[in-house]
Amino acid sequence: MPLYAYFNKQFVPMTEARLGVMTHCLHYGTGVFEGIRGNWNSDERQLYIFRLNEHYQRLLNGCRVLNINLSHTIDQLCRITVELIAKCGFEEDIYVRPLAYKSSEALGVRLHNLDDAFMVFAFPWGPYLDTNGVRCIVSSWRRPSETPQAKITGLYVNNALAKTEAIKNNSHEAIMLTASGYVSEGSGENIFLVQNGGLVTPGVDDLMVVGITRDAVMRMAHNELGIETTERHINHSELYTASECFLTGTAANITPVVEIDGHKIGSGEAGEITRKLQKAYSEVIKGQNPRYCEWYTPVYKNGPATK
Ligand SMILES: Cc1ncc(COP(=O)(O)O)c(C=O)c1O
Repeated sequence: MPLYAYFNKQFVPMTEARLGVMTHCLHYGTGVFEGIRGNWNSDERQLYIFRLNEHYQRLLNGCRVLNINLSHTIDQLCRITVELIAKCGFEEDIYVRPLAYKSSEALGVRLHNLDDAFMVFAFPWGPYLDTNGVRCIVSSWRRPSETPQAKITGLYVNNALAKTEAIKNNSHEAIMLTASGYVSEGSGENIFLVQNGGLVTPGVDDLMVVGITRDAVMRMAHNELGIETTERHINHSELYTASECFLTGTAANITPVVEIDGHKIGSGEAGEITRKLQKAYSEVIKGQNPRYCEWYTPVYKNGPATK
């Protein structure tokens, strides 16, 4: 299957989308990215992009922080993305990676007097983590204490250190704390605990990326299961005593956490509420729940894809 990228304001084969070695973003982390999923509905032969608009809203917020001026509106970014995906002709679950970045081939730590650019590409991507359950560690790497609500490339280095620390410790994912020692998030996911039949998750003060999946899960828990979520500081030790724990994110969808630092969570298997939410979410992202129709962007506008 040919892969394409939107790069330098045109669609090009992926292999032709290349950056120079002096590109500013590469050296100083001066880029803002998003992760978006397209989910294949085989019955309808349709690919549904999940919450496309909200992802580009967050990207443009990040652009404001990094002084990146994109000449595109949200609508244009959405249209470019749909066109790119349709051009690739995917008939499977995909991941979409937009990046807005400082594109000048110029060195020097700054945000001003630099050119800005936008690229987006997409590729087939199945589950990021094992959806039956993962082992986590609480990382020794803390969340940076100044965290804008955006996915800024340079701010991901602690997350990368934390993830590799987890893998080296025979686990699958890292949970990061804030400098004050409260639970913040996974290296690429938000975190929820089940306590006394309700959901608990860190709030904005806990320096995590306020996830679009996190928001979807809170709304679905309320609408589909009648379960409310409390946003509050979570102490480190609460991780060990929760009856269930799960991670949420565009890449990871809803992933049960079955062990943290060697402590079994609940029964040591995915919990009941987690399973129910996983089921509801897997239907929602495939465009199967009309209650959330404003979250779906179908790629194949002229009817279902053909073989
Ligand atoms: C650090 C971090 N936290 C949380 C999330 C979850 O955000 P979303 O649900 O919008 O994908 C992500 C990414 O996708 C992330 O990278």
